[in-house]
Amino acid sequence: MKILGIETSCDETSAAVLTDSLEILSSIVLSQDEIHAPYGGIVPELASRQHIASITYVVEESLSRARLSLADIDAYAVTQGPGLIGSLLVGLSFAKGLAYSFDKPLIPIDHLEAHVESAFIENEDIAFPVLALLVSGGHTSIFLLDTKLSFHEIGRTRDDAAGEALDKIAKFLELDYPGGPVIEKLAAKGDPKEFPFAIPHMTDGSMDFSFSGLKTAALRLIREHDISKNHPKFADFLASFQQAVIRALLANMSQSIKVYRPRSLILCGGVARNDALREAFQKLGRNVPLPTYIPSPEFCTDNAVMVAALAVEKLAHQKDTPLDLSLNAYPR
Ligand code: KG4
Ligand code: ZN
Repeated sequence: MKILGIETSCDETSAAVLTDSLEILSSIVLSQDEIHAPYGGIVPELASRQHIASITYVVEESLSRARLSLADIDAYAVTQGPGLIGSLLVGLSFAKGLAYSFDKPLIPIDHLEAHVESAFIENEDIAFPVLALLVSGGHTSIFLLDTKLSFHEIGRTRDDAAGEALDKIAKFLELDYPGGPVIEKLAAKGDPKEFPFAIPHMTDGSMDFSFSGLKTAALRLIREHDISKNHPKFADFLASFQQAVIRALLANMSQSIKVYRPRSLILCGGVARNDALREAFQKLGRNVPLPTYIPSPEFCTDNAVMVAALAVEKLAHQKDTPLDLSLNAYPR
């Protein structure tokens, strides 16, 4: 079987073709970073318009690199939500049209579940139960999976996502968009102990996150120390802030491990490209000790391979895969 996956939930237009044994025949990701960079963040209206302009090319290119035509595709998979509603609708409508004209199944995919699935693309034998930390620009959550496809969200951010906090501080400091990778590069030369940050703790025993407090603390330090690109301790400040975000993420993960006693750990989402976070997560795994799985960087940021991969799992477990043309996108 050949599955064509489509992902347009945010600012990447992506299509990928996979076989039902998870062989990747092609993967195309067209980023809109340059379009949103002048605004320091994603402009939803520009994102959906760019998806419309790119989607045909991206899907055609994914087919041509896989040396296939639409008639060879056995099933379609598409991100249904959560994400930007206008962006989601472009991919969903396109996939519906293809599935309808070729009379093939259409598998709706949850974006957060697809991020978690990205860890299984390169590792099929992950022991359950699994605790997965998903850290991206729009989401920061912990999922518990007792078995394949049983996604239970046990904690989520109550305000900003971790990537969003990095992007907002970067924007405030007039760094390029997206801020996460820019901060990582500059922070590599800094001392993370130079600026103290208090790590937020939920008082109600929940595994939820909060990053707005860290963001406010960062803004206060920026004002107090007059931090800017020319400040001699600029790299130290960024290293300290990045380290605080990582500590906040891992504090909840450690607590969740104690409560839920998993057999393996996953780190996924765009911020999982960050080497300092990857290393800290692996160290946590060694200390517990539990095996850790982190996807290759290209599968951390938004991509259609993870969408098609989750569809392969669903097709294997679900007997009935009808074509439901009334499917709608959901923003959250
Ligand atoms: O998963 P993703 O592509 O989109 C969402 O679903 O949100 O994640 C994008 C986020 C952005 O906030 C970006 O700054 C962050 O991932 N990011 C990074 C790095 N690469 C991307 N954050 C820290 N370090 C990186 N190397
Ligand atoms: Zn994402």
